[in-house]
Amino acid sequence: MMSFNTVDKITIQNLVDIVGEEYVFFDKAAFEKYGRDETEDLVFYPEVVVLPRTPEEIGAILKICNHQNIPLTPRGAGTGLSGGALPVNKGVLLSMERFDSILEIDERNLQATIEPGLITQVFQEAVKEKGLFYPPDPASKGSCFIGGNLAENSGGPKAVKYGVTSDYVLNLEVVLPTGEIIWTGANTLKNSTGYNLTQLLVGSEGTLGIITKAVFKLLPHPKNDLLLLVPFYSSEEACEAVSAIFRAGIIPSGMEFMERDALIWGAAYIGDDSIAIPENIQAHLLIEVDGNDKEVLYKECETIYEVLGSFKCDEILFAEDAAQKDKLWKIRRVVGEAVKARSVYKEEDTVVPRAELPILLKGVKEIGLKYGFKSVCYGHAGDGNLHINIIKDNMSDAAWNDELPKGIREIFNLCIDLKGTISGEHGIGYVQKSYMDIPFSPVELALQKNIKKLFDPKGIMNPNKVFV
Ligand code: LAC
Ligand code: ZN
Repeated sequence: MMSFNTVDKITIQNLVDIVGEEYVFFDKAAFEKYGRDETEDLVFYPEVVVLPRTPEEIGAILKICNHQNIPLTPRGAGTGLSGGALPVNKGVLLSMERFDSILEIDERNLQATIEPGLITQVFQEAVKEKGLFYPPDPASKGSCFIGGNLAENSGGPKAVKYGVTSDYVLNLEVVLPTGEIIWTGANTLKNSTGYNLTQLLVGSEGTLGIITKAVFKLLPHPKNDLLLLVPFYSSEEACEAVSAIFRAGIIPSGMEFMERDALIWGAAYIGDDSIAIPENIQAHLLIEVDGNDKEVLYKECETIYEVLGSFKCDEILFAEDAAQKDKLWKIRRVVGEAVKARSVYKEEDTVVPRAELPILLKGVKEIGLKYGFKSVCYGHAGDGNLHINIIKDNMSDAAWNDELPKGIREIFNLCIDLKGTISGEHGIGYVQKSYMDIPFSPVELALQKNIKKLFDPKGIMNPNKVFV
């Protein structure tokens, strides 16, 4: 068990000296705001909240924490779903919200250098104005920070064609737990110089250092897209259709799966009742293709229709205009929030090789029956990434607290049997760490923990995350 010191008056004064009085908070309102993220209903109050503005300020804060043995939890926008930003050991909560600048959009090299407190969508819109494309687009893109996307290696619907956050990162400025400032790589598309610290930092969930600048590669923005909503009579068949479409030579720019309730609850959440969902429809696929040449895209849709001809689906909705596309995407993006608004829930972020998705879904439902839980499943089917929202509904507290973890273990074991893993894009953070023995052997876990020790010998950086 880690033991840390508490934040005393002298430490608070030191923090004030570094960032200024107006950026240090220790009142209840601040603790309420910064003590939670989007993970279930978890709340942990920090002892002090600090809003630095420069890497040097962060370095000075970390030196104090290191010296005094005080835990520090970095935080982006607090949209995380694995509890990575929760200050579970109290101490200092360090918010990155003032690091919100785009430092450079380098149109010659198709790159951008930004600060991590920038909202993902703001970044996407800024580069789009210059005809450029930053694809990773988590459901929370309108509010999440790029820094959080880096910490969790976020994906989102576009990942199926364009890859996840780590696929766009070239170089990072990082403040180490000891307070020193480093750059991890170079602003190049290729790099075989030394260990790849850039990729090590991405997805490290704020446990190895604090990212203060990031250099991303960009793409030219595709000019057109087409969107289809396909209703299926069987959820498993919907999952089977996914890999068939890829095998027909199509790489969609979105391939999302929604079980019946996911779509119904999402639509109700935004107050939309325009989509007719017949009784016998179990699931939908939302399929997008994008590119520059509209004719090519229509041809791709024809191929998709042909593939779907051998599956039992109802009438396909072909989105007519930008407004309809926006609405369908909006419904898809709010599913998580919609579920949260309905019931106490737990969200699992399973991922398997794409063609194994039908087996995973079937297994989840069987495990649900065995343990008495209902689940609403949806997610990035093209990536084999299934979000399983387990609904508490009428389950007793005993079943929820004592039996459900066994059911979750069974789901995760199934993922490993299928050569998948336990998180595709939400991270391990606080809520999944007790399951890390499922994907990793003791040797593999020890290697990871030793890396953590090398970066953070005193274990002050975001303690109690990723590993037990
Ligand atoms: C989504 C988030 C929960 O895909 O990852 O909606
Ligand atoms: Zn997702």
